[in-house]
Amino acid sequence: MKKVITYGTFDLLHYGHINILKRAKEKGDYLIVAISTNEFNEKKGKICYFSYEERKKLIESIRYVDLVIPENSWDQKVSDIQEFKVDLFVMGDDWEGKFDYLSDYCEVLYLNRTPEISTTKIKNELAFNLKV
Ligand code: CTP
Repeated sequence: MKKVITYGTFDLLHYGHINILKRAKEKGDYLIVAISTNEFNEKKGKICYFSYEERKKLIESIRYVDLVIPENSWDQKVSDIQEFKVDLFVMGDDWEGKFDYLSDYCEVLYLNRTPEISTTKIKNELAFNLKV
């Protein structure tokens, strides 16, 4: 069984998120999604619309996802990979190169982001009434 892991905030779930989770699952048999907790997001200067528990319920409802775990810090990735016996680490290519050090522990793959959608874009367009 090939295990895949990916990390993210996944606030205001959108089709870019679904796309990356679908493609991540297609690379293996079992997909683990580590979701940033509200406390960790605050440390990153990110404020979420949905709480961790709400985002977790949404992500758990996606057919490609087998397990959701919390992401509490930047440096838990190696221990997650070891604990869950992960074979492949996947992230969107906005993170290209940033996690290459994990290749000592498993395969590392960056997938193309879906163009023209992000949580930030949704928030901005709703806030400023920019959507046409
Ligand atoms: N992602 C993607 N395509 C998009 C948006 C996100 O493939 N259009 C991927 C990211 O590369 C990451 C995962 O989805 O691997 C979670 O990203 P996240 O930062 O939670 O989503 P964003 O929409 O980028 O949120 P923000 O605008 O707050 O950064």
